[in-house]
Amino acid sequence: MANDDLKALIRTIPNFPKPDIQFRDITTLLLSPTGVATAVERMVAATHSPVDLVAGIEARGFLFAAALAVPLNAGVLLIRKDGKLPGATIAEDYALEYGQDRIAIHADACAPGARVLLVDDLIATGGTARAAVRLLRKAGASVTQAQFLVDLPDLGGADALRAEDIQVDALVS
Ligand code: PRP
Ligand code: ADE
Repeated sequence: MANDDLKALIRTIPNFPKPDIQFRDITTLLLSPTGVATAVERMVAATHSPVDLVAGIEARGFLFAAALAVPLNAGVLLIRKDGKLPGATIAEDYALEYGQDRIAIHADACAPGARVLLVDDLIATGGTARAAVRLLRKAGASVTQAQFLVDLPDLGGADALRAEDIQVDALVS
């Protein structure tokens, strides 16, 4: 399956969740067995070095983090919206294309120096991913790569993340 075919499985819903936002909806890709398998295989193949943990961002990032962790022989680290994790946490605020939010991880989620691959379904402004990198680095992780199914390049998030010494890969733009 070509990356253009993957792109064709993603639909656009205008004015969601707010007026003037073109929402790129991956639920249609997830419904396709070939689409989901191709996306996961490509993300695994694009992983450049061994990883101890795959960190997924709530909610859609969890799907890809778990799927990548199995073939990469890694654990899964959950980056959750604040207030959902039961143990002691560290948190970061960030701005979204359509609002403001706060994400958290367990303070003891990774050993110092753990090699962590960051994964999410989509990067837009990069606010979420940059907050995730700040959190993971605060926790002592070594984060050098982030993978996304979709990049919205006009919003500049991938470039902003690259400026923080992260290799950024996305399957479709
Ligand atoms: C979406 C997406 C990314 C983030 C990208 O998540 O899954 O996590 O926005 O935007 P950014 O690059 O501008 O930060 P959302 O916060 O909508 O949460 P959801 O996955 O729970 O729907
Ligand atoms: N997250 C941030 N911006 C988005 C968009 N335009 N579509 C889907 N998810 C998003």
